[in-house]
Amino acid sequence: MTDQTMYVILLGPPGAGKGTQAVQTAERTGLLHLSTGDMFRENLRNGTELGSLAKTFMDKGELVPDDVTIRMLLERISREDARAGCLFDGFPRTVEQARALDEALGEQGNEITVTVLIDVSDEEITRRLGGRVSCASCGSVFHEIFNPPKAESPCCDQVNMIQRDDDKPAAIANRLQVYADQTEPLVAYYRQADKLSSVNGEQSPQAVGEDLLAALQAVSD
Ligand code: AP5
Repeated sequence: MTDQTMYVILLGPPGAGKGTQAVQTAERTGLLHLSTGDMFRENLRNGTELGSLAKTFMDKGELVPDDVTIRMLLERISREDARAGCLFDGFPRTVEQARALDEALGEQGNEITVTVLIDVSDEEITRRLGGRVSCASCGSVFHEIFNPPKAESPCCDQVNMIQRDDDKPAAIANRLQVYADQTEPLVAYYRQADKLSSVNGEQSPQAVGEDLLAALQAVSD
């Protein structure tokens, strides 16, 4: 799409479709997809201390503390493969995380190119997260109704699907509250920095993806 090094943030409430869009957009742009939620879940699968610590917060729908999350993310973006640009999914989630990211990129002579808000109502989010399932083998994300698992797939079939612990109703409600209290202020933060764009997340995943690419194109010209 562009030769310019881009650092793109996908912002939006839990279940807005950040992960779905990040996977597609990373494939189409070549940007490195970095999801802090995926990093914590990988640590949990690998039985690390960080994974066990993160689980105590994730299961309740709370944020993992800033110091732990920032350290993990900054270590990841210091690696060579992140120098060609990144697509951040689920980070930053607090103003403190946003400031730490700005500072770290600044030290590398880089900056956030654009933050794209995926706009979705609370009602739609509750419907989406209640039906989200993912493949126990490869991690691909589906929805029982909107994007059902593939019966013909050797890996992603119905019986191989699992539900995330934080997609239970009580945790979903808390995640929405935590988003409103701690993450939504980032909309004003990036708007003030003139780095905010938004797309309507209540369309088909393909249509959201096209709008997202158009938003990236608009800032890369
Ligand atoms: P994380 O994994 O980042 O979860 P999240 O932000 O809550 O986002 P989700 O993964 O739930 O949703 P999504 O927006 O990616 O939507 P998806 O594409 O899956 O974080 C989990 C936890 O980790 C946090 O609660 C926290 O504890 C911790 N954590 C992570 N990062 C942290 C940080 N920076 N600081 C502190 N703590 C942190 O889509 C959802 C569903 O909808 C799917 O079923 C999908 O198939 C479906 N869908 C997607 N798009 C559409 C569409 N257009 N139409 C219909 N259905 C759709």
